[in-house]
Amino acid sequence: MPVQWRFDLPSSSKTAQETRLQPRNAVLEMAAYHPPSSGRRNKLRLDFNENTVGCPPHVLDFIKRYLTAADLSIYPEYEAAREDLAVYFRVRPEEMTLTNGTDEAIQLVVNTFVDDDDEVLILRPSYAMYRFYAQLAGASVHEIDFRVEKLAFPLEEILNRITPATRGIFISNPNNPTGTGTTAAALEKILLHAPNAAVLVDEAYYEFCGITMLPLLHKHQNLFVSRTFSKIYGMAGLRCGVLFSQAGNMGHIRKAQSPYSVNILAAMAARIAVQDHTFVEEFVVEILAAKELLYVGLEKLGIPYIESKANFVLIDAGARSLEIRDELRKRGILVRERGYELPGSVRITVGTRDQIRQLLAELQEIW
Ligand SMILES: Cc1ncc(COP(=O)(O)O)c(C=O)c1O
Repeated sequence: MPVQWRFDLPSSSKTAQETRLQPRNAVLEMAAYHPPSSGRRNKLRLDFNENTVGCPPHVLDFIKRYLTAADLSIYPEYEAAREDLAVYFRVRPEEMTLTNGTDEAIQLVVNTFVDDDDEVLILRPSYAMYRFYAQLAGASVHEIDFRVEKLAFPLEEILNRITPATRGIFISNPNNPTGTGTTAAALEKILLHAPNAAVLVDEAYYEFCGITMLPLLHKHQNLFVSRTFSKIYGMAGLRCGVLFSQAGNMGHIRKAQSPYSVNILAAMAARIAVQDHTFVEEFVVEILAAKELLYVGLEKLGIPYIESKANFVLIDAGARSLEIRDELRKRGILVRERGYELPGSVRITVGTRDQIRQLLAELQEIW
């Protein structure tokens, strides 16, 4: 006679009532973060700064044709990917680690160098995950506003705010969502001013502006640089990034990293992606041309915008920002409303020229 297991399954409402566990204070105090990332298929996705035509064909080809059953059945081995990527980025393998997107890179820097109540500096508005991981770690988070005038980089304000207790500084260059950026010289001033802080320069949009701190890795003991395969490479769904710093720092980082945080598909795809750069180079040219087209169209419509060094442009839709976003969505185009941090702002990812023409045609109807 087969054994009949009896489970007393509580109803979900009962479970909720009976929960007695208290999360850490840091978690209690955090606002939940819900990116609007569902139902995006089959729409023109100008909302997440992704590659709007997809990943390079040779990466997809590789994933479809060359992955074996064995590749998927064994725990990831990263050596080959790390060596190839180190050559591509012109660093030594011990100066980098593959990460589960930039998000893991941010988390690793926080987990490795920031303790409870330590001071962390971030800019406002900027990429939400800096605040997210710093708060989660129980850090004391200080925000410095971009300047009102053209949302320029607040260098003096940052320098004045750094103290010996500053343990982490997170800067996206170019910055999301403003699209504004800063120079390597300005970032070097920050690095020198904050010797006790891990300074992460997030270069998620590097390919669109060409400014990088990577060649300065050996000069600054507190410099961390992150890159991602989520944006220009069109591989956001795979979750792969790279974090760089001097070998000593990376030794500490690796101790804090889960041994298999990057899946093998992501690691192999990243390795393949950098073997042929034609697709990415052509896409940058297309995006820069489309951005000019967008500027011209916005000017014709009288829509104020901030000039951008990345693949997105922040416009000022005033009191109509939510309405504009919703009207565009009805017409199959997704954009990101950012009024919760900059009143009236809407961020538009730059796609191809055809996609931008489509956007402008719809904007003209509803503006
Ligand atoms: C500045 C910045 N860094 C990182 C990311 C996310 O990167 P990843 O997908 O590699 O975690 C984004 C995505 O919007 C971003 O804007």
